[in-house]
Amino acid sequence: MNIPMPGTAPDFPPPLPESLCHLNGEYLRLCDAKVSVLDRGFIFGDGVYEVLPAYGGRIFRFEQHMARLDRSLGALRIQNPHTHAEWLVIARRLIDALVASTGAPNQLVYIQITRGVAPRDHVMLPGLRPTVFVMVSEMKQATPAQREQGVCCVSADDFRWQMAHIKTTSLLAAVMARQISADVGAVETVMFRSGNLSEASSSNVWVVKNGVVMGPPKDHLLLEGIRFGLIEEMCQAQGIPFELRRITRAEVLDADELMLSSATKEVLPITTLDDQPVGHGAARGRPGPIYTRLYAAYQQAKASQSV
Ligand code: PDD
Repeated sequence: MNIPMPGTAPDFPPPLPESLCHLNGEYLRLCDAKVSVLDRGFIFGDGVYEVLPAYGGRIFRFEQHMARLDRSLGALRIQNPHTHAEWLVIARRLIDALVASTGAPNQLVYIQITRGVAPRDHVMLPGLRPTVFVMVSEMKQATPAQREQGVCCVSADDFRWQMAHIKTTSLLAAVMARQISADVGAVETVMFRSGNLSEASSSNVWVVKNGVVMGPPKDHLLLEGIRFGLIEEMCQAQGIPFELRRITRAEVLDADELMLSSATKEVLPITTLDDQPVGHGAARGRPGPIYTRLYAAYQQAKASQSV
């Protein structure tokens, strides 16, 4: 018997996409893909994921994403079920299928690997067959208005766990953090741990002061975004000083510029934080010159670093 959920309209939730996905070696429609209720990803959030941007069908910084996938799997003692070359074959097949069916100009590849299916037990049973899932969707990018005006963010305490460097599917704290900004119509939640900047719910955060681009240290308190290394490389190439160190809340509030980075946001200026305009003087509340330079460099990198 189907029991209707209270308050749900017939067209809600939205219908599942029919695009092609990959599940444990099979290619099938996303709306038909099913996993066991005893999958440890479902029971414990015991898995990892990657999100890879592709432009015109070519994946940006593929090897760096693969290296992070290996690190996340290693931290959870899950063996990578595929070689990097095999992941590329799967991703390309799904990208081609999406482009053929929708014409999506840019794509987002989502890879998820869980420890596999087993009777419920917290212990990491060795020898399970990992569950492998890959899907591709159209990449939704920042709007021209967001690029021109920057975006609003709010701040919050970082109440996530202490192993934020693992890109795990256990994302409840990130979901709750993101909702804090969503509730007030803001784009991201910028988080502070013990008074120091960590990152945003699904982006890294960058502070510009006196021409120096600064980010927090790469440690277990944040996810090292693939744009972490890229921003460092772009700063080096442009002669912009770059520094990773603890950054206090006061320094963030006094920044000349603030930026977000992620696969979909690329680099994106934060121009309002907690209802206060970011920056000083004429540039107050406006995207700054370092953002403009890094965004331009990013567009060039896309062309040269995609496979
Ligand atoms: N989020 N920090 C967190 C907590 C993230 O979830 C992400 C990415 C980043 C930026 O990483 P990258 O530059 O590799 O995209 C930083 C992805 C996009 C997501 O969960 O959808």
